[in-house]
Order: sequence, then structure tokens, then C-alpha cells
Amino acid sequence: MVNTLDSTFVSQSSWKPDLFKGKVAFVTGGAGTICRVQVEALVLLGCKAAIIGRNNEKTIGVAKEISSLVPKGSDGTDAVLPIGNVDVRNPEHLQDAVKKTVDTFGRIDFVIAGAAGNFICDIANLSPNAFKSVISIDLLGSFNTIKACFNELVKSKGSIIFVSATFHYYGVPFQSHVGAAKAGIDSLSSSIAVEWGPLGIRSNCIAPGAIGGTEGLKRLVLKEFEENGADKIPLQRLGSTKDIAEATVFLFSPSSAYITGTVQIVDGGMWHLGTTF
Ligand code: HXC
Repeated sequence: MVNTLDSTFVSQSSWKPDLFKGKVAFVTGGAGTICRVQVEALVLLGCKAAIIGRNNEKTIGVAKEISSLVPKGSDGTDAVLPIGNVDVRNPEHLQDAVKKTVDTFGRIDFVIAGAAGNFICDIANLSPNAFKSVISIDLLGSFNTIKACFNELVKSKGSIIFVSATFHYYGVPFQSHVGAAKAGIDSLSSSIAVEWGPLGIRSNCIAPGAIGGTEGLKRLVLKEFEENGADKIPLQRLGSTKDIAEATVFLFSPSSAYITGTVQIVDGGMWHLGTTF
């Protein structure tokens, strides 16, 4: 499965070129598979972006690759700013990252809280520290991210997308930690929609299903499912990172100006089956 986009995303898509010209995105986990392609879509549509990651070298490399999809700015700057060595569990790291983004691009319009950690473990063997680690990265990290961006979002009347999941809609074994974190994220997003709506800020979640070629699928799913499991999904195929990118563009676009506090599930209808892979 190819996990990158090119200019055909614009020429063959429903979106007009320059849809996001003048806008700036702040994306945690932006060097990871799903968030990287979300950033590619935004950048191909004229947005600038800061990608925030724990691994400095990976973040720099991915920023270069995404920047190469579009011409440099008239001042010679790349479209994507890498900000590495950031742990989303540390609010000060995020405050610094926001400052660097604003120093470089002048503003923040869109936030994607995508940084996540996960592993397979049953509850009996899950240590308190293991549970806390995933809650701290996924839920507290998302909270720290939007708190750090708040002042900029007020100025821009911006929009937030949290990367959620469908685990907590039913009981998924060996995923109690991440299910609890993502349930918390959905709740946090709803509260933001209500508290910050009057400020002109929108907040929504995207809940991906089984997306081919991702770290999540590799970690969570048997190889046989990735190769032969598509017929178990109502739409008869695994999802792609492009499917998530399309939903992202919609939720940040003016077409969704009256949509806040929602969860956009992008899973080919799978969660309705109420089964795991
Ligand atoms: C049981 C585990 C474990 C495992 C770690 N721990 N891995 N327990 N099974 N496989 C325990 C450790 O023993 C320790 O507990 C505690 O978790 C913290 O571990 P550390 O390694 O010290 O934590 P840290 O370095 O902060 O690592 C965080 C992490 C790690 C989440 C545990 O996996 C990580 O950094 N992941 C980032 C990359 C990642 O996960 N990508 C996948 C994203 S996919 P003790 O008690 O021993 O101290 C994804 C998909 C979401 O998120 C859903 C998609 C649908």
C-alpha cells in the first residue's frame, strides 16, 4: 500500500488548489504514517505546517520529503517545519513548539493532535505504569497540545482534529489502555466544541479503522488480516491514509463550517459489525 500523495491529489480531487493558502497547521505525530499523509494533503492544498515529533532525525527527514511536494515559498522557506525532540507529555515542549511555529509562519489555524503510543497487552498483565504511559501520551498529550495552541486558535478562529479510534465503541481485548485514552479524547473534543465554539474554534475527531500499511495495523493485527481480511469490512477493502487525508481536508475546509463536536469515523463501516480484526 502506497502511503504518500502527489500532485494528482489536487488535480483529481474534489478540492480546489490553494484551498488552504495562507493557513498554518500544527501537527503532533506529523512524521507518523497517518498524520504524515494528512499533512501532505494540507500542504498540497497550499497550507504550511509544523510537524512535531519525538524522534528528531525522523521528523527532519519527513518534513523535507513533504516539503519537496510543493515549490519553496517566495522567501525560500520550506512548506514544512520540523520540530523534533518533543514529548507531548511535557507541556513546556509544546509551548516551545508553538512559539517556533509562530516565529516561522506567523500563525496557527489548524491543529492535529495525532501523537499516540500503543501496544498489545491484556489487562491482567498491564502494569499501572504501562496504562499510564499510553493515557499520558494519547490523552494528556492531546490536552497539552490544544492548551499550548489555544491563544493562536483564538486569534485565527481555528479548528482542531483529534485522531481517535473505534476501540471504545465495544470491548476490544488487549486494548484497554488505548480504548480508555481515545474515549477520553472524544469527550475532550466534545467539551472543547462547547466551551470554545463561542470563540469561533471548532473541534472534531477522526476515528480511523483498519488503515493499510500503518504502524497501528502492524502492531495490532495479524498479518493474515492485512493480507486477506478485506472481505470482513463492509466496503470490502482496508482503509488508506488518503481516506483519512480526505476527511481531514473536509473537516478543516469551509464546507464544514457548522460542524463541531463530531467524530468522523473512517472505517469502511467496520465498527457496526462490533467485532475486532
Ligand atoms: C506490556 C509494555 C509494553 C508492551 C511497554 N510496556 N511496552 N507493557 N506490553 N508491549 C510498559 C513498560 O514495561 C513500562 O511499564 C511502561 O509500558 C512504559 O514503557 P516505556 O518504554 O518506559 O515508555 P515510553 O518510552 O514512554 O514508551 C511509550 C510506549 C511505546 C507507548 C510504551 O510503545 C511508544 O513510545 N510508542 C510510540 C510509537 C507507537 O506506539 N506507535 C504506535 C502508534 S499506533 P513498567 O511497569 O515496566 O514500568 C496507535 C494506533 C492507535 O497508536 C489505534 C489505531 C486504530
